[in-house]
Amino acid sequence: MQKAQEYIQANRQKFIDEIIELLRIPSISADKAYAKDVHKTAESVAASLKEAGADNVEICQTAGYPIVYADKIIDPSLPTVLVYGHYDVQPADPIELWTSGPFEPVIKKTDIHPEGAIFARGACDDKGQMFMHVKAFEAMMKTNSVPCNVKFMIEGEEEVGSVNLGVFVKENKEKLAADIILVSDTGMLANDVPSITTGLRGLSYVEVEITGPNRDLHSGLYGGCVSNPINVLNKMIASLHDENNHITIPGFYDDVVELSTDERAEMAKAPFSKEAYCKALEISDVYGEEGYTTMERGSIRPTLDVNGIWGGYTGEGAKTVIASKAYAKISMRLVPNQDPEKITKLFQNHFESIAPAGTVVKVTPHHGGEPAVTPIDSIGYMAASKAYETSFGKKPIPVRSGGSIPIVAMFEKELGLKTVLMGFGLDSDAIHSPNEHYGLFNYFKGIETIPYFYQYFTELSK
Ligand code: BES
Ligand code: MN
Ligand code: MN
Repeated sequence: MQKAQEYIQANRQKFIDEIIELLRIPSISADKAYAKDVHKTAESVAASLKEAGADNVEICQTAGYPIVYADKIIDPSLPTVLVYGHYDVQPADPIELWTSGPFEPVIKKTDIHPEGAIFARGACDDKGQMFMHVKAFEAMMKTNSVPCNVKFMIEGEEEVGSVNLGVFVKENKEKLAADIILVSDTGMLANDVPSITTGLRGLSYVEVEITGPNRDLHSGLYGGCVSNPINVLNKMIASLHDENNHITIPGFYDDVVELSTDERAEMAKAPFSKEAYCKALEISDVYGEEGYTTMERGSIRPTLDVNGIWGGYTGEGAKTVIASKAYAKISMRLVPNQDPEKITKLFQNHFESIAPAGTVVKVTPHHGGEPAVTPIDSIGYMAASKAYETSFGKKPIPVRSGGSIPIVAMFEKELGLKTVLMGFGLDSDAIHSPNEHYGLFNYFKGIETIPYFYQYFTELSK
C-alpha cells in the first residue's frame, strides 16, 4: 500500500479541489427545486468513478433519484467489498446562520481543526466521506495496488429515507453480490481518539395533527370555552415523558435489550468530558433519562423528540386567535430489538387515547428504519480496526452511535451482508446544521485508512 499512500500525498491539492467542486452542487434531495442539481451530482460522481478507473459505471434510474453503480473486478476468486455512500445532502436552512454560503465551500481553521476544515453543506454528511472512497480507490488503481474486488453503490435519497434503494437492492442482488459492505457516513470520538461505530439506532418518525374547532376563533370570545389545539398538543407532548424522562407510551420499552453491567462498564471507558460537552453547546447542564450517562442516553437508549411544532399566529405583533389546528413532527430513536412499525403503532394508539374530548388527532407515519449492530469479532471489524491502527498509530475504540442509517439493516436482510462503518466525522462537524464542515485532517485520514482496510480484509478473508 506504500505506493497508494505516496499517490495520496502527492495529490493532496487535487483531492481538495475535487471535493470542493462536488460540494458546489446543491444536491438537496428533500426540495424538488434542486432536482436538476441532484441529477447533476449523480453525473459528477459517476464521472469521478470512471476517471478513477472503475468499470461498468452506470447511473441507474429509480422512481426517485438515481443510484450510481461502478465496479472493478480484478479476480472473481478474491473477496468483494461493496462501498455504499450518499451524494444527496440536507437542506441548508436556516441559511442566515451560515458564516459563508452553504454551496460556496471555503477552508477555515477552527480550534478542533487547526489544519483547516471545508465548510459546506454535505462536507461531512456525506459527500466528503463518500468521496474519500473514490479517491482511495483512485490511489489504489493508479498504483496498481487494488487487493480485491470493489463495487460502488452511491445513492441520492438517503436524507429522505432511501425510499427507492430497497427496490434497487432487491432487483440487483447478483450485481451487488459481495462479502462485506463498507460505509463512511458516521463519526469518531476525536481526531486523537479514533473509534469505529458498531451500532446505529433505528427510527420511527411521525407527524401529528390536532384539530379543535372548525375555524380559527377570537381568543377572547371563545378562549377558555373550547379546546385550544396548541395548548392540547403541548400538554399531550409533555405527557410523553415522566418526571425521570422515561417515555410513557405503554409497551415502548418492552423489546429493548438492556446492556449488561460489564458492557456498560466497557462503554464508560470511552473518554467523555461533560464540561467540554456543555461548553461546546453553550448549555449549563445535560438533560435526559434518569439512571443513564450522557453517552448511554445518546446511543443505547431509545428516545422521543419533537423535531418541529407549529400552528396559530407566528407573524409580527399580536393576533388574538385560537387556531383550528396544531402540528408537530416527532422522532423516536430506537435501539436493537425494537421494531419501528410496532413502535409507530404504539405511539399512534397512545397519542389518540390521550386526546381530550373536543379534539381530533391524526397521526401520519413517515419513513423509519431498523437499528443495526456490527459484531467486533467479525473479519470486517477486525480489518477496519487494523486499518485505523495503521493510519492513526492507535487502536480504535468500538462505539455505538445515536444516529440512524436504516439501509444497514436492509442490506443485512436483503443481501445477507454485514456493514462496517468506517466514519471519520466528528460530532462537532455540525452535520444537518448551519456551518457544516469536515476537517482536512479527517478527509485525508479517511483516504489513507481505506486502502489498508482493503488490504487487511483481503488478508483476513484467506
Ligand atoms: N450520516 C447520517 C447518520 C449518522 C450521522 C449516523 C452520524 C451516525 C453518526 C445520515 O445521513 C442521517 O442523517 N440519517 C438520518 C436518518 C435518515 C432516515 C434521514 C438521521 O440519523 O437522522
Ligand atoms: Mn449521511
Ligand atoms: Mn444525514
